[in-house]
Amino acid sequence: MSAFITFEGIDGSGKSTQAGLLADTLRDTGRDVVLTREPGGSPGAEEIRSLVLEGDPDRWSAETEILLFTAARRDHLERTILPALAQGKVVICDRFADSTRMYQGLSRGDLRGIVDQLHHLMIGREPDLTLLIDMDPAIGLSRAKARQTSEERFEDFGQALQDQMRRGFLELANEFPSRIRVVDGARNTQDVARDVSRIALEYLA
Ligand code: ADP
Ligand code: TYD
Repeated sequence: MSAFITFEGIDGSGKSTQAGLLADTLRDTGRDVVLTREPGGSPGAEEIRSLVLEGDPDRWSAETEILLFTAARRDHLERTILPALAQGKVVICDRFADSTRMYQGLSRGDLRGIVDQLHHLMIGREPDLTLLIDMDPAIGLSRAKARQTSEERFEDFGQALQDQMRRGFLELANEFPSRIRVVDGARNTQDVARDVSRIALEYLA
């Protein structure tokens, strides 16, 4: 059975780590898994990734970002996600449209309506299951900053943005209770992974 599973949460919450571990767990049970990420996940979308994640925080307006992230997502969907699902694979994606609902829809004014309209028009697909890795933003930001990459545009918006994103993600979990499951990320990697794989295996069963 194909399935589209996404990870969401603030920067540094452990999404990539947990997505990789879940991919290993599902492969061990014999499933065909495609592990991918946003922004990116296809050659064209990876090019857009460097445009949006590098440079000054004010490089793009929120409205322009909505267009760039949605363009990247459309390419990723057409070339990576939908073909894999059509072949019966499990697609695990590190961030998807919920990140646009939060980072572009909330952070610089209320643009959620525009995000949702463009999503409906150009993407029109929600994940089957979303794991929201929740934690105190101070922990997430210190983990993310310790990574030392050039992709720091959003981390450079600072702690206040991360606080707002955490609250927003928890509200989103209430808005989509059948799809989004909240996991406490402020524990060691193995404990978080145990909850993540239990929820995913229950869904797939
Ligand atoms: P995200 O994809 O959400 O930004 P990562 O998986 O890249 O998060 O993790 C951010 C950093 O924190 C990495 O250096 C990772 O090794 C570390 N990390 C991930 N999970 C944990 C955990 N449960 N406890 C401590 N450190 C963690
Ligand atoms: P990511 O590489 O997942 O960062 P991290 O590992 O720090 O969580 O994503 C990079 C940044 O892109 C992250 O700060 C959130 C932002 N982003 C958006 O603003 N909108 C989007 O639609 C997506 C997918 C990501």
